[in-house]
Amino acid sequence: MKPDMLVPGIHRVYARIGDRDLFEGIWPIPHGVLLNSYVVQGSAKTAFIDLVKDWEGAVGSVKEQMASLGLSFKDIDYLVLNHMEPDHTGSLAQLCEENPQMQILCTKKAVPLVKAFYGIEKNVRAVASKESVDLGGKTLVFEETPNIHWPETMMTYVPEDKVLFSCDAFGSYGQYAHCFDDELTQEEWDLLIPETERYYANIVSSFSQFVQRGIQKLAGVEIKMIAPSHGVVWRKDPAKVIDLYLKLARYMNGPAEKEITFVYSSMYGNTAALVPIIKQALEEEHLTVRLHEVPKDHASFVLSSAWRSSGLVIGMPTYEYRMFPPMYHILDVLERSHVNNRKVMRFGSYGWSGGAQKQFDPFVEALKWDCLGVIEYQGAPTEEDKRKAVAVAKALAKSVKEWSDS
Ligand code: FEO
Repeated sequence: MKPDMLVPGIHRVYARIGDRDLFEGIWPIPHGVLLNSYVVQGSAKTAFIDLVKDWEGAVGSVKEQMASLGLSFKDIDYLVLNHMEPDHTGSLAQLCEENPQMQILCTKKAVPLVKAFYGIEKNVRAVASKESVDLGGKTLVFEETPNIHWPETMMTYVPEDKVLFSCDAFGSYGQYAHCFDDELTQEEWDLLIPETERYYANIVSSFSQFVQRGIQKLAGVEIKMIAPSHGVVWRKDPAKVIDLYLKLARYMNGPAEKEITFVYSSMYGNTAALVPIIKQALEEEHLTVRLHEVPKDHASFVLSSAWRSSGLVIGMPTYEYRMFPPMYHILDVLERSHVNNRKVMRFGSYGWSGGAQKQFDPFVEALKWDCLGVIEYQGAPTEEDKRKAVAVAKALAKSVKEWSDS
């Protein structure tokens, strides 16, 4: 792998992480993920921005790319840690052993985390918003952007080149053969936008208020290039990813897209029996329906769909007097991510006793969902249950369309 030059003196050195692992130990990455670090060389000093965790030989790959620039970790004067999560700091102890003189720059909130994660206290310096470090012809200017993705996060800006190093913000899942947005093939774009949305939903969504605040903070900053620590570098059109993130952040409280996420589980087919009937009723209203069966579909994909949908259909049976467990997991994930203010309906079968609805109601309340109807039945759905399901689905479709258009 070769480093990519953003501008003279600024290079991306990075690692491709495959699909064998779960990101954060929970989210599938069938198309992999990139860990991007950046080297900024001034006439006097050299800085390294965000590290990689040593998954799949990532550190070795970064070292090789640095060597091709005539650099080693020993040449780093400043290590900037925009964010402490181990995907960006995992090789910190190793780097400090190789270069004990290097100064670590991070926010005040990150300082105790450097100690807690890696036992490192020496040469750690807290920087605050607007503080800067002169490298000689290139300056690093820091801006605290808390909670994108955790409280200690900041971004780093090089005003001479108008490059913003945003770490998790404006990032994406997926590997891309090309570094820059203007180099991507159509196939890469077809991966990038959905994988940016899924990354946002999985990693960033619950911090959406902070994303909006962070983007407001950047409003006066002229940005020619956004260099995140996951995904591609936005060189031609950085506004495209800023606008996408802003749109996704606003979905938190709805309305989102004029779409329905339809997620269901079924044990013996009695809950599934209503799926085609409800789906057809929604599609007759010209709504896009994103269908997921759980646990066959991972919560990562359900969350990504739900985040962009104004409406939700949730079907699950009762299981041991409570909700079917895989659906409880889905609802827990939706609640943690604050998929608020959606239009919803629920349906499901029970055998000997109900109970799922009692566990469903608190989610409706906590997430401020507008529940347009529940169809719950013993055993198989009757013709009357089917008629009711169609009527509620039509009401849901109407409500989603009106709300999304408002
Ligand atoms: Fe890419 Fe929050 O770490």
